[in-house]
Amino acid sequence: MKGIILAGGKGTRLYPNTITVSKQLLPIYDKPLIYYPLSVLLLAGIRDILIISTPEDTSNYKRLLDDGSKLGIHIEYKIQDKPRGLADAFILGADFIGSDSVCLVLGDNVFYGQFFSKILSDAQEQIKRGGAAIFGYPVSNPKEFGVVEFDEKYKVISIEEKPRNPKSNYAVPGLYFYDNDVVKIAENVQPSARGEIEITSINNDYLSRGKLSVTLMGRGMAWLDTGSPRGMLKAAEFVRTVQDMQGFYISCPEEIAWRRGFITSDQLLALGEELKMTEYGQYLISLAEGTK
Ligand code: G1P
Repeated sequence: MKGIILAGGKGTRLYPNTITVSKQLLPIYDKPLIYYPLSVLLLAGIRDILIISTPEDTSNYKRLLDDGSKLGIHIEYKIQDKPRGLADAFILGADFIGSDSVCLVLGDNVFYGQFFSKILSDAQEQIKRGGAAIFGYPVSNPKEFGVVEFDEKYKVISIEEKPRNPKSNYAVPGLYFYDNDVVKIAENVQPSARGEIEITSINNDYLSRGKLSVTLMGRGMAWLDTGSPRGMLKAAEFVRTVQDMQGFYISCPEEIAWRRGFITSDQLLALGEELKMTEYGQYLISLAEGTK
């Protein structure tokens, strides 16, 4: 399975913070926002990753993550000239995806939870049998998201993008698993009223063919909003609180790469040494030396 991180967009809701810097490069506490979705893909065991970003920002992502070899993975980059909608990820990523299945994670989505690895591996198992796997997460402001409508048996009836009258409070988080059909489906998506080719149209295509699975994420999962300065600060506070309490870091790609066996302890130590002036670097060193 291939992985795509969509890190485009103008980030206007965060202006003036994002006039000169891509939103997904801004920090959530001690690491850039993109480390969080990158960690999701690594946790899923996905090692072939495409980062899609703007003409201005792509070079900064390259400076940060290079070709991924330091993490034992392979990262490619694709420029999106204009934000055309999330479905564009599969048009721009068509060559990269080839004949494979794909997981798309939005560059500004932060996930954390004890059973998250299991959720990811279950979705991957499901996609091996074909179709699409997405999630539902209870939110207090469903109007701002894609929203899932269920019948009384929790069978999915519809997915609506930013509905005025949401039919449930389950939003669709920015994490999507698809079989290879997604490439063809994306090519045929028509722009919505807001002029975007919506991921929701792709999901409705799978739904109409009986090929969409929606798994509800329960209260043990955190899906954090980074759509506003307040949301970013709250996410940062959450990360700091959990990290301080447990001593384990949230979404540390180096740690996940090491635990997954993509890099050795010596490689992890070298990555820690590069950052040894920070707590982040010291954390990597302590993991590599087995003192953590
Ligand atoms: C996008 C999707 C929406 C989804 C959300 C998750 O919205 O269109 O369906 O619920 O991401 O973050 P956007 O952030 O582009 O407004």
